[in-house]
Amino acid sequence: MPRYELPALPYAYDALEPWCPAETLELHHSKHHAAYVKGANTSADALANLPEGEDPHRVQGLRSALTFNLAGHVLHSLFWESMAPEPAKPSGDLETAVTNQFGGHKQLNDQLTAACMGVHGSGWGVLSVDPCTGQLEVGAFEDHHHLIVPGVKALAVIDVWEHAYYLSYRNDREGWVTKVLEHLDWAGISNRYTASANR
Ligand SMILES: [Fe+2]
Repeated sequence: MPRYELPALPYAYDALEPWCPAETLELHHSKHHAAYVKGANTSADALANLPEGEDPHRVQGLRSALTFNLAGHVLHSLFWESMAPEPAKPSGDLETAVTNQFGGHKQLNDQLTAACMGVHGSGWGVLSVDPCTGQLEVGAFEDHHHLIVPGVKALAVIDVWEHAYYLSYRNDREGWVTKVLEHLDWAGISNRYTASANR
């Protein structure tokens, strides 16, 4: 029984067309996300079966591989949940927080777009809750696991690795980000926001 498993998408591969073609979504989920799951399991299995007295450099290499692949698995799982074919509108406490902290969704989206466009190479735009203050924050993760504040609770993520958009959008990362922002599922984001406040 593998430790980590590829989750089913919460919608069909063609459910986000035309802005996210089925071919892109299927490749992204069944190949790219699946590869992170496989990598996480392979690394975790190797760590669990180390011979006594193993070279500590090899151990740390395996831990680094596990971190990279497991972060990729966790972030992709959240990415699928961050979007919906017919996304819910913002409401409730989260809507109030967006208004109070950012001035509104236009301003929040501008910040998320800037965070995505500012990623050097591959990474993610992130809407999160600051673990110390409970405030909403906009930021970015580079690769899968750099620039992350320990304990941060990610509410929604936007994949800006080229595999997410290059088949259709070529080098137009901002065009891709704009479409994802239009399809953020605020019901799920709100549920994660509420859960973070109750902990
Ligand atoms: Fe991805």
